[in-house]
Amino acid sequence: MITPVPSRAFPKMAAPDFTRDLDLTLEELNALLDLTAQVKGHPEQYSRALAGRYASLLFEKPSLRTRLTFELAVKQLGGDSVVSSGPIGGREPIKDVARNLDRWTQVIVARTFSQRTIDELARWSSVPVINALSDLYHPCQALADLFTLKEHRGTLAGLKMAFVGDGNNVANSLMITCARLGVNFAIATPRGYEPKTRIVNQALELAAETGANLTAAHDAEATVTGADAVYTDVWASMGQEEEAAQRRVDFQPYQVNEQLMALAKPNAIFMHCLPAKRGEEVTDAVVESKQSAVFDQAENRLHAQKALLLMML
Ligand code: CP
Ligand code: NVA
Repeated sequence: MITPVPSRAFPKMAAPDFTRDLDLTLEELNALLDLTAQVKGHPEQYSRALAGRYASLLFEKPSLRTRLTFELAVKQLGGDSVVSSGPIGGREPIKDVARNLDRWTQVIVARTFSQRTIDELARWSSVPVINALSDLYHPCQALADLFTLKEHRGTLAGLKMAFVGDGNNVANSLMITCARLGVNFAIATPRGYEPKTRIVNQALELAAETGANLTAAHDAEATVTGADAVYTDVWASMGQEEEAAQRRVDFQPYQVNEQLMALAKPNAIFMHCLPAKRGEEVTDAVVESKQSAVFDQAENRLHAQKALLLMML
């Protein structure tokens, strides 16, 4: 006989929206990681949690993982979603879009070019708004990634994540989330592609509270040495297609290949938000290696977003 496992209580998120990583308090972030494990282990206990509730999913840019994991997350929690692709705020003001969607659905998930679009939606919507990637942050990605690292290592505090590549949205969210969780974070970028000073300074303040070590440099080898996780992202993000040729030149010394991975700890994992451009930021051999955790990360997008929706709605 299978003994049912009682579903644990979890806190309701205090902030109305998840527009950026810091909308979750540290306590809520830790609770979310615990709830993710619970939801992943016992999905059946949450299968009616969002019954009768609906999500609006808005995409200004392409998506595989984020779109499908949000659609599945809502469905697996007993709700449903509608999707709209294309520019937000082209035909009518963003504030009007927000005040249409909040009449029909109970949460808005938006992938935008500009963080300002997410903030404007959140300002006008009476229902929660979730950032599904902007030019500044990819907070849902960071939740799944830190959960994945914890799954692989059993603990987070004191680990070292090395990020090699573009100091962009994914790196920003990881830097902030690692700093808060006491994970040492080292980033190596080419000159001119560093994360924004404002966001580095914010992460440094958070790191000071947890004792995490945070470094930003230009030397990929030194950055990766001794790392527990090596992370990279595409060299040209969505919307930067015209810069791709120049970026291929500038980022060439920052490819994650087997030589670079050999400098990390022997049991280090390789991480990537995906989609990956094999032969650019990472070699096929590294993505396909035993160290690669990329499909665990992709799987965990689903579980982490279910936990997020449960805590928000
Ligand atoms: N990692 C991620 O956000 O993937 P998609 O662009 O496919 O959603
Ligand atoms: N930095 C990438 C992440 C894709 C998930 C982009 O913004 O396109």
